Amino acid sequence: MADPNPPAPAHRAHVPVLAGAVATVFEGVLPGTYVDLTLGLGGHAEMLLDAHPELTLLGIDRDPEALAVARPRLRRFGDRVTLHHARSDELASVLGHLGVTDVTAMLADLGVSSPQIDQAERGFSYRSDRDGPLDMRMDQGRGATAADLIADMDEDTLCRALRDLGDEPHARRISRAVIDAQPRTTAALAEVVRSSVPAARRRRGDPAKRVFQSLRILVNDEIATLDRTLDAGLAALVPGGRMAVIAFHSVEDRMVKTRFRTAAEGDCSCPPGLPCVCGATPTARLLQRKPWVAEAAEAATNPRATSARLRAVETLHAEATGPGRPSPPPP
Ligand SMILES: C[S@@+](CC[C@H](N)C(=O)[O-])C[C@H]1O[C@@H](n2cnc3c(N)ncnc32)[C@H](O)[C@@H]1O
Repeated sequence: MADPNPPAPAHRAHVPVLAGAVATVFEGVLPGTYVDLTLGLGGHAEMLLDAHPELTLLGIDRDPEALAVARPRLRRFGDRVTLHHARSDELASVLGHLGVTDVTAMLADLGVSSPQIDQAERGFSYRSDRDGPLDMRMDQGRGATAADLIADMDEDTLCRALRDLGDEPHARRISRAVIDAQPRTTAALAEVVRSSVPAARRRRGDPAKRVFQSLRILVNDEIATLDRTLDAGLAALVPGGRMAVIAFHSVEDRMVKTRFRTAAEGDCSCPPGLPCVCGATPTARLLQRKPWVAEAAEAATNPRATSARLRAVETLHAEATGPGRPSPPPP
């Protein structure tokens, strides 16, 4: 007999983060190809395809399982949709391979998706009821798992990563314990981390959360990949095209902010506040100086949204890119 309460498809529970801000950024976008660099469950993609009949989608994800979930969701858009398994920094070769030259919109919504975290066997979750192999690869066909990385790593390297990526105050004692224990499962890692920091000294919540996030960023080489992705993305847009990035980590957000500002100021070396005389050429304009963040209603229903920062630029037409500082963006 059929289950009267079948589980909802994974995508139905998924609300794309900062959906209103993403819609605003792409209002009035030029007709052409919209590249979703981190397709995930296809939530933003579906929203933008509905809102913009003039766009076709090239959806990229490094996780083949994400593409398998997004594909049926986007089927109703027919040949407006092309999906491709790749990492975002491989954009140039994907576009070359597919012969796409009219990219007018691009979105990267960084990090992992909820189904990746929810599936114990993917190894992303620090929750004790979701024990699984210590994997954490977004693409399970490529690269070393978190357990292998720990096996190859020394204590100092792990300690630095926990400080830089997790802002972890107990990085030294945690890394010593982890390297000693060599955990191979998520529950074992979470247990080693928690038992190395006495409960009385946990002023900033569960240290396992920060350790898992730092390791995930390392395993997937997320910082260097973002750096290359920003260059590849800006280079691929036609003049007047828009690129938006949603970051959840302060290191990533800073990187996006700096790269977009450099594009908007043309790598200007003049003192701030003075007119540009160094001949720097802006290639883009910021759509808003400050990042878009979640409104209270979204933050209340989606805790993940509270750390989301959306930044966006529009590339300039050749005639608009003379030397000098562009006019300041709206506040
Ligand atoms: C937060 S989810 C995206 C959710 C999506 N915007 C939606 O509305 O459903 C992030 C997705 O991006 C993928 N991803 C993360 N970094 C990536 C990268 N550098 N290249 C390609 N895909 C990436 C992950 O595998 C995951 O499926």
